[in-house]
Amino acid sequence: MEFSEERLKKVSEIIARYPEGKQKSALLPVLHMAQEQLGWLSTEAMDYVASLLNLEPIEVYEVATFYSMYNLKPVGKYLFEVCQTGPCMINGSDDIIAYIGERLGIKPGETTADGLFTLKTVECLGACGYAPMMQLGKFYKEHLTKAKVDAIIEECRNNAAVNS
Ligand code: FES
Repeated sequence: MEFSEERLKKVSEIIARYPEGKQKSALLPVLHMAQEQLGWLSTEAMDYVASLLNLEPIEVYEVATFYSMYNLKPVGKYLFEVCQTGPCMINGSDDIIAYIGERLGIKPGETTADGLFTLKTVECLGACGYAPMMQLGKFYKEHLTKAKVDAIIEECRNNAAVNS
């Protein structure tokens, strides 16, 4: 993969925010850019980011494999990132995760055959007061119930149908 001229300019701007020789500090946002372009982070994409920031590939892998927000394999159009940490668990996240899996016919870490949905479990997303919750793209879906899950899945399917 390669970035466009425009994206490379953005990378330079991000690197310039940090002191000389500290370009590794730009790693998280540049990985986001790569994921935004590809949809996930392939080894090739991570190697490309390493070359842009003058890092060893292993330095990029270490970071990309640590954070759940980076996808190391292709994901569906709709990524359900369900929090499974304590407060969400106490409020039923296990049941919600099982129910989503049942509705979509997949387990955590899997994507539906039509490529629409991926179910992923993640750690605390900082919205414990709204437990159980999940992240869907840029949005948080809070106080999840089975009925809310049904509505979210239907809304995603409808959006996908309209945009196909
Ligand atoms: S425990 Fe789920 S958002 Fe914090």
